[in-house]
Order: sequence, then structure tokens, then C-alpha cells
Amino acid sequence: MGKTQCLYPGSFDPVTLGHLDIIKRAAGIFDRVVVGVLHNPEKKGCFPVEKRVEMLEKACEGLTNVRVIAYGGLLAQLTKEMNISVVVRGVRTMADLESENAMARINRQLNPRLETIYLPASPELCQVSASMVRQLAQFGADISPYVPAQALPDITAAFHS
Ligand code: PNS
Repeated sequence: MGKTQCLYPGSFDPVTLGHLDIIKRAAGIFDRVVVGVLHNPEKKGCFPVEKRVEMLEKACEGLTNVRVIAYGGLLAQLTKEMNISVVVRGVRTMADLESENAMARINRQLNPRLETIYLPASPELCQVSASMVRQLAQFGADISPYVPAQALPDITAAFHS
């Protein structure tokens, strides 16, 4: 059997411990995990894409089957180009599930070979989001409980330089 691989896409603006938890769990299931920094047209970006990739790479150091890339187009197109047929997403709330279902259906219309699978967020990380981290950092609160230690200096510097 060939090696199994999945795409874990997101904005990662910035990476949080919630993201890292999903990446580690996906890395335990699949032979290879591609973490894709993609554009979410619903969100105005805060960190430049190159910085998001850099922070993810630092956070994923030591995870030998994880690779981080950036992509400017449609998720469905990326999966076709990389011959990936599984997308992994983390789900924290019922609201997440609704929007994820809509996204999964559209992606499957665009690439009928594609399956989206959900991993439930770990209970202690259910309240963690990149938008919450950005807000806390903006007002100088301690974000260390919510972000990977390797990304902390870059996130803090972005708000206090
Ligand atoms: O971390 P996010 O913001 O929830 O991730 C959403 C993301 C980036 C995965 C989604 O917006 C996406 O896939 N963007 C790429 C453009 C695309 O394919 N859109 C169609 C899916 S509805």
C-alpha cells in the first residue's frame, strides 16, 4: 500500500496550541501531513503568509512527517496538484461543524476524490482560537498558554515592536 497523506489547511494567523494538537494527532494517523497556509477570503490577515509558515515550521520542529507549505488558490486545486485525497480539520463547536460541513461539501464538488475528516478539539483547547490570541496579544495579555512556545517570541514581537 502507498503512503497515506493528508492536508491540514487553515489560515494559521497565527498558529495556536489548538492547531498544533490537531497536527500532532494527524501525524499519528497519516504517514505524511501537509500543513497548508491558505487564504480565507472571510478574514483580513494579520501576519504575512511567510511569517505564518515560519512560525508553523518552528512549532512543528521534530515532527518528521509534517511539512508546511503556503498556497494562494483553492484548497480543492491544491489537493489535486498534490494528489492528496484527505483533508483534516479540527472542530471545536457545533458552529464550527456547520461551517466545516459547508466547506467540505463544496470542496468535494470541486474534487470528488476528496474526503474531509474532522478531529474533535481536545477539551482543554476548545476555547483557543487565532482571533482570541490576536486580541489578547494586542492588549498585552499573556498568550503563552495558547500558542506553541516556539512561536511566542514572533507573535509577541509583532504586537510590541
Ligand atoms: O483557519 P481557517 O480560516 O478556518 O481556514 C479556512 C481555509 C483557509 C481552510 C479556507 O478558507 C480555504 O480553504 N481557503 C482556500 C480557498 C478555498 O478553497 N475556498 C473554498 C472552500 S469553501
